[in-house]
Amino acid sequence: MSAPVPPIQKILESLHSELLENRDGEVATYIPELGKADPEWFGICLVTADGQVYQVGECDQSFTIQSISKPFVYGIALEDRGKEAVLEKIWMEPSGEAFNAISLRPGTGKPENPMINAGAITATSLVNGGDTDSMIRRIVRVLGIHAGRPLSVDESVYRSESETGHRNRAIGYMLRNFEILEEDPKACLEAYFMQCSISVTCRDLGMMAATLANGGVNPCTGERAVSRDYVENILSVMGSCGMYDAAGEWVYNVGMPAKSGVSGGILAVLPGQLGIGVFSPRLDPCGNSVRGIETCREITRKFGLHIFQVPRLATEVIRRTGSLARTRSSRLRSAVEMEALRQAGDAIRILELQGDLNFGTAEFASREFMRADDRIREMVLDFSHVTGMNSSAAGVLAMAFGSWLETGLRVSVCRCERFPLLEETLSRVIPDQWRKVGFFDDMPDAIEEAENQLLEELELRQHSSEAVGIEDCQLLSGLNLEDLETLGSLLKPIAFEEGESVMKVGDDPDGMYFLMRGKASAWIRTEAGRERRVATFSPGMNFGEMGLINHSPRSAEVRADSRIETMMLPVEAFDRLEELGPRLQVAILSNLSAMLADRLREANEELAQIHS
Ligand code: DON
Repeated sequence: MSAPVPPIQKILESLHSELLENRDGEVATYIPELGKADPEWFGICLVTADGQVYQVGECDQSFTIQSISKPFVYGIALEDRGKEAVLEKIWMEPSGEAFNAISLRPGTGKPENPMINAGAITATSLVNGGDTDSMIRRIVRVLGIHAGRPLSVDESVYRSESETGHRNRAIGYMLRNFEILEEDPKACLEAYFMQCSISVTCRDLGMMAATLANGGVNPCTGERAVSRDYVENILSVMGSCGMYDAAGEWVYNVGMPAKSGVSGGILAVLPGQLGIGVFSPRLDPCGNSVRGIETCREITRKFGLHIFQVPRLATEVIRRTGSLARTRSSRLRSAVEMEALRQAGDAIRILELQGDLNFGTAEFASREFMRADDRIREMVLDFSHVTGMNSSAAGVLAMAFGSWLETGLRVSVCRCERFPLLEETLSRVIPDQWRKVGFFDDMPDAIEEAENQLLEELELRQHSSEAVGIEDCQLLSGLNLEDLETLGSLLKPIAFEEGESVMKVGDDPDGMYFLMRGKASAWIRTEAGRERRVATFSPGMNFGEMGLINHSPRSAEVRADSRIETMMLPVEAFDRLEELGPRLQVAILSNLSAMLADRLREANEELAQIHS
């Protein structure tokens, strides 16, 4: 049975066949070689920011990139000269004129923006290299990184353009006249003609757009083509000037930064989400592909991609709030400790965040944060469900943490390893305080530490280094001395060094362990292969009891977190209790079922919260 066609692919296919009927517009001929294009060619390619490719139609048909090269060469100029130097030469305003208008800013002669030919030729002149060959070599290499494959110049189109490029030469000498170009324009004009003649396909355009959508990194090769900061500048001029004097209509109807070319290509970018490449040689009077514009308008409408669409409310950043009164670490605690956490646990607040953290969502989260009343001693923030964080979000959080820490309260964060930006921002924004922030790999650890701190403050914490006697074990509460002696005669003292496994998954059960000193934890491996701590045992607690009940193989690995001393009750000894001390066996089993019932109740409470 053939694999189901992905929904996006289906929609692109129906759009393609629908728009194939639109035969409006003319193939460009002012560059004679371009006139050889088949007006029927039509390709649509959508590439997601993580590299998933959807395509329909002539997506592997080669054509020359033309003006779509301009935003990428602008990026190279920014990399090679820096933003200030580039803005000295090229401004950022829509010209409201045609792409090849011989128009420069009065007085300075500065081109209005890098998307019109005057600005583009200037940008080319700012590419490192000095001579045509070195400039075009650099341009072809960088555009190849965006496309994810080596590109080359179509010599016949280049020659055709160079032979007929009188208007661009006029622009070049105007720029020289205003000292915008500091040398004879010949070299950069030839490089400009060559860059416009770089041969690409519709699929390349989709990939190049996805590279910009992915912050300058090609989503398939992982190679960086341009710095993340400059992507913002490139998309800004594409948004305001990329479609020339049709830019306003484009933003209104499509709402994505884009760039068109006279060979019939259009490239559009939805930052963080996807890139679109469309190719169809028939152009409208502005020099934009007719089918290209229709395709992008329909894709925006069908998928709701307009950049000014109001995103989800920032308030949805809070996935869940809780406190230690109802949320437990995996650390099993004595009844006294548990009751104390139930009573005083509201002093430690837990905030689970979700989605993309930007200024709006971080501001809302920090307000939620700061709204906390003065009983609060600590805030534990869980970033497990956070999908992204930008610099302004990191800045807002850092300032909130700072004011929080200033009041002597504690802050812990969990699962931030994916966002090194936060630690870097904390160290910069609150240099004297940030080391007080607790960083944890997973929530059970963060909550356990918060529990320990609170119990310490309540002077109720039981330290694992303190040894206990068999009479202190929870499972043996209520046993009389005689029973304890009987049991004691069956127990085997076993010690384990830190990190040593007491039992592994799948082991046949040897017995149940009472922990007399030290700390041990039970671990499982998730489907994703990640190790997860599911319980932590302190002195007086027991583990491996399931083996006594149903002799089933071990379902979790137990490892010593520190050097531990245990008393082990072998399975056969427990079974013999039936005749040796039936009352003792019943007492142990009833304590066990009471303990398991407590754990079940807690698990239900936690589930009720998670699904609240
Ligand atoms: O400079 C030119 O005229 C061409 N190489 C590029 C123009 C172009 O692609 C305009 N875009 N719609």
